[in-house]
Amino acid sequence: MKRMLAILASLTFASSLAAKPVYEKQDPPRRLNALQSAKAEANYQKYCSLCHGADRQGYANDHAPSLRSKSLFESGVPHAILRPLSYGREGTAMAGYLDEVGGPMDLDEVWDLTYWLFWQSGAERVRLSENPVAGDISKGEAVFKQHCTSCHGEQGEGVNAPALANPSALAHNKDEFIRYAIVNGRDGTPMKSFYGILSDQDIDNVTAFLRSKARHQSQSSVPLRALPTPEQYIVNPQGADPQFTLTDDMYVSSADLHQALQDKKRMILLDTRVPSVWQRAHIEGAIPFPYYSDLDDKLAGLPKDVQIVGYCSCPRAATEHVIRQLRDKGYSKTAVLWEGIFGWMNLGYPVTRADGIIDEADAATH
Ligand code: HEC
Ligand code: HEC
Repeated sequence: MKRMLAILASLTFASSLAAKPVYEKQDPPRRLNALQSAKAEANYQKYCSLCHGADRQGYANDHAPSLRSKSLFESGVPHAILRPLSYGREGTAMAGYLDEVGGPMDLDEVWDLTYWLFWQSGAERVRLSENPVAGDISKGEAVFKQHCTSCHGEQGEGVNAPALANPSALAHNKDEFIRYAIVNGRDGTPMKSFYGILSDQDIDNVTAFLRSKARHQSQSSVPLRALPTPEQYIVNPQGADPQFTLTDDMYVSSADLHQALQDKKRMILLDTRVPSVWQRAHIEGAIPFPYYSDLDDKLAGLPKDVQIVGYCSCPRAATEHVIRQLRDKGYSKTAVLWEGIFGWMNLGYPVTRADGIIDEADAATH
């Protein structure tokens, strides 16, 4: 009798829950040869480990996600890796690394790094449908408010998790990719599986709600401007030196930097992000000085007696990395912008934008 009941109970349970979707497997992508693999790994350490961690575990800085979760690589290769890696995610610390948009890597390198990450993850690729997921947007919004905002933010802007309402992410992540993450979670990260916690219908509803946040994406590549030459490094070369009071001997506030620029003080501004995002928007006069630069190549034209202020968007990690190296080389008049460039923009201070880039500030919600 007991056994009967148990069987009955399990049958009822099974029938109230649709079977977990089964996905067709896809052939693995090409393998890298030893040389390509070594180069990809070196590129990973040089360009990515600062935020995604030396071991691809994520969360070394800002809320850079894990780059080793099987679930991500099952559902996301190549698009969900290659796209953000090449073109970046507008309004987040994730910049575009492809040379086409002003980044340091060529097309072969971004493909090889994508596949290197895939092979490291040990995942098997699944085939995802291209079809949109149908759902009730307003019901999906209610699900989102109840279950998702604590990590993904009230507006899906990302608090300590990726920005789900991000226009560049939504422009490339298909509905099934989003649903896959919700159904399967991301192993080894705080993103748990919502399978069995939310009904299948609610999973579709919240997917449809996230999709409804997509909007026309601003141009992903902009006409590239020429990089400044050493003669152009100093802002207000005739001005007096600013007298900053640094917090923790390191940080200058946006308000103080803005005031010093208004007072035409003499300074050098270093944009320590990937140059592709400098191309899109930067504080006027700032020079690209990416966090992965070989310092010895970059010091020409960088005098020690001029106040240097660096900034990035993560919001400080990349700049701190650069400024500490400069201090080791005897550059003592150096500081890090506390709020980072998104904080600066959110305070309403001006930036120089590439033609066609108008949205960056409202995308910059964190
Ligand atoms: C300055 C910090 C930083 C660096 C350096 C960085 N990333 Fe990111 N990356 C982020 C953040 C933050 C996000 C999440 C953005 C968001 O909210 O959507 C992200 C997102 C991603 C995603 C999307 C993952 C997902 O789950 O959707 C991929 C793929 C990625 N990064 C790959 C790379 C690679 C490869 C490199 C090196 C070439 C790199 N990143 C360098 C901060 C960084
Ligand atoms: C406890 C925190 C937390 C909660 C609650 C949460 N998430 Fe996540 N979510 C994350 C983290 C962290 C990631 C990134 C994981 C990684 O490192 O790959 C993520 C990733 C995702 C992704 C993949 C995004 C991308 O660009 O790769 C989707 C889609 C997603 N979550 C949807 C949801 C939805 C919908 C809900 C509510 C039903 C939800 N999440 C609730 C923490 C959370």
